[in-house]
Amino acid sequence: MLREVKVDDMEFLYQLANDFDVRKNSLNQTKIEFQKHKQWFFNKLIEIKELKSKIFIYELDKKKIGQIRLDKKGIFFIIDISIIKNYRGKGLSKIMLLDLLKKVKNISILAYIKNSNIASQCLFSSTGFKKVKACRDISFYKVRT
Ligand SMILES: CC(C)(COP(=O)(O)OP(=O)(O)OC[C@H]1O[C@@H](n2cnc3c(N)ncnc32)[C@H](O)[C@@H]1OP(=O)(O)O)[C@@H](O)C(=O)NCCC(=O)NCCS
Repeated sequence: MLREVKVDDMEFLYQLANDFDVRKNSLNQTKIEFQKHKQWFFNKLIEIKELKSKIFIYELDKKKIGQIRLDKKGIFFIIDISIIKNYRGKGLSKIMLLDLLKKVKNISILAYIKNSNIASQCLFSSTGFKKVKACRDISFYKVRT
């Protein structure tokens, strides 16, 4: 089940953001300090109210296993998706992303993906995103919902 973020998801999002592969595949790879995360999270809750951001949590049998975030940048929403380590490699990100695409209508979504991140490239290609540009080590994938 994909649901909107709640205040008590702060700790889950902190753990996930500092996961080794999540940091490795991010544009900014430095470890996140808890105080910085807390500030960031409460700022996001404000942005959500202002419709500049959306965060969804994916739960399986009441266990939180993944997140998807959309941040408004100009005419696009930039997407960020991640799943906890033990639940990767099971095709769950595809279920999560397809569910999201049904929930958010009439927006353009852009994904920045490192060329080394094969799972992520397969995920976006198989859910309707089109590769629109590649520059050095990053590819850009786009979809209109
Ligand atoms: C990226 C991420 C969300 C993918 O989630 P996942 O559910 O584990 O994805 P899967 O392992 O099921 O792989 C997705 C697809 O890639 C394919 N794939 C994965 N690794 C592959 C590889 N090395 N070579 C070829 N195909 C590969 C899978 O077969 C699957 O294809 P299918 O849908 O046709 O079966 C997850 O790995 C994650 O959280 N990674 C860390 C954070 C991250 O990188 N986020 C994305 C930033 S853009």
